[in-house]
Amino acid sequence: MFLVKSSTFNILVFLCSGMLLILACSHETRIQSVGNYVDVENEKIELCTTCPPGFLLNADNQCIAKNMYQQYESLQDAGVGGLKTALPEIRDGFSPQQIDLGRYLFFDPVLSLDGSISCASCHDPNKGFSDGRATPKGIHDSLLTRSSPSLWNVAYLKKFFWDARASSLEEQMQGPLYAANEMANTPENLLTTLNDIPAYRRLFLKAFPDKSVHDSIQLQEIYTSLVAFETSLISLNSRYDRYAHGFPGALNRNEIEGLNIFRSFVARCAECHTPPLFSNQQIAVIGSPEPEGHPFDPGAEITFKDATRRGGFKVPSLRNIEKTAPYMHSGRFKTLRETAAFYTKGRGHAVPENEKLYLHWHIWEPELTDQELDRLVDFLQTLTDESFMPEIPKKLPSEVKEKETMSS
Ligand code: HEC
Ligand code: HEC
Repeated sequence: MFLVKSSTFNILVFLCSGMLLILACSHETRIQSVGNYVDVENEKIELCTTCPPGFLLNADNQCIAKNMYQQYESLQDAGVGGLKTALPEIRDGFSPQQIDLGRYLFFDPVLSLDGSISCASCHDPNKGFSDGRATPKGIHDSLLTRSSPSLWNVAYLKKFFWDARASSLEEQMQGPLYAANEMANTPENLLTTLNDIPAYRRLFLKAFPDKSVHDSIQLQEIYTSLVAFETSLISLNSRYDRYAHGFPGALNRNEIEGLNIFRSFVARCAECHTPPLFSNQQIAVIGSPEPEGHPFDPGAEITFKDATRRGGFKVPSLRNIEKTAPYMHSGRFKTLRETAAFYTKGRGHAVPENEKLYLHWHIWEPELTDQELDRLVDFLQTLTDESFMPEIPKKLPSEVKEKETMSS
């Protein structure tokens, strides 16, 4: 009886999340032509006043995350790999207007020094918010040395970058914004640029209503808006999630077999890629190889000034992993199959001869068969959910010609 009730509840929740998607506000305003005259008022970009799907608006105009995992206990001391376990604490509470303004900023190349690249150039929503390259290209085609991580579910992370060198999203974004080989901007130039765009001046007033019409845009407001958008990228409605909430038909036999291998103490994947986030957020030294001819990446050794973490990287979440090839910090592996096979080729098999690494004790010799590796891939593909995909702006505030007058 309980089972029946709970799966009906699940179906309802999933139906509702679908509906939320339809109800999500359409952010774009339309250009209305009256004869030859284009109504400039209607061309104006307005910010959304409702929360993205997965969030509910409270009385203080804050979007608060709502999901099925909130009914479960925390993972603390409860073992790993359980289906009905809680997520880490989420960063939420931003206003719909801040989230929507962040969306425009995220896609706007005006944030880079020469207006050529946006955050989305390297974090493309159609590529799982990664970019499909082993290593991305920054301004003037300069090559970076690590791959672009996905941004789905960053709201749950405590440390950022592959080597965990940033402790907040605000701190993190000052990396790409101001790095000479990424967006190459300066805080001063970023402020001047945005303050010179009347549409942005007007939108920042909407998102930060305590400002006066005469106040200029502040750096902190830019950072807050981008964080608000990034933390709205929630992916928790995959087929795996449905299975975890008690709907056994959501996965087929091969996928369930894959899940069991993933959680087994032979493969040990779930010890580090702990459900439901599929990351325990720790640093692990696993000894994954650099691309041919590339220098060894010391990773977290630099962050923590600790030789035992040499070659260590943050355990990445595996949600939407199907979308973000190639894999690992180096983008060395092209497919999920190749990545899974890495773990069974022998402990430390890819570590350069002159390196002594302190490999994590869960990296060992599981001797998985070809079939087991196939099942692992089957399972990893059940972690795909892009139902809360944000809308890519059709028009950006930097392109909209508005009069200087500050109507709010
Ligand atoms: C030139 C490509 C590029 C651009 C532009 C870029 N990023 Fe990234 N991003 C990366 C790479 C590469 C990493 C990983 C770097 C590392 O770990 O050393 C990264 C890491 C991140 C992370 C950390 C994710 C995690 O799991 O630790 C976040 C968040 C992020 N970027 C957000 C942004 C935002 C917001 C912007 C725009 C202000 C932006 N990025 C612009 C390439 C880029
Ligand atoms: C000891 C902890 C640990 C264990 C056990 C582990 N992983 Fe990982 N996994 C990591 C770390 C750390 C990385 C990132 C390493 C890098 O970039 O060099 C990673 C990366 C990955 C990636 C690539 C993610 C991306 O965004 O590029 C996949 C896929 C993956 N692991 C799957 C698995 C599977 C399947 C298993 C079990 C066979 C497993 N992992 C076991 C720690 C672990």
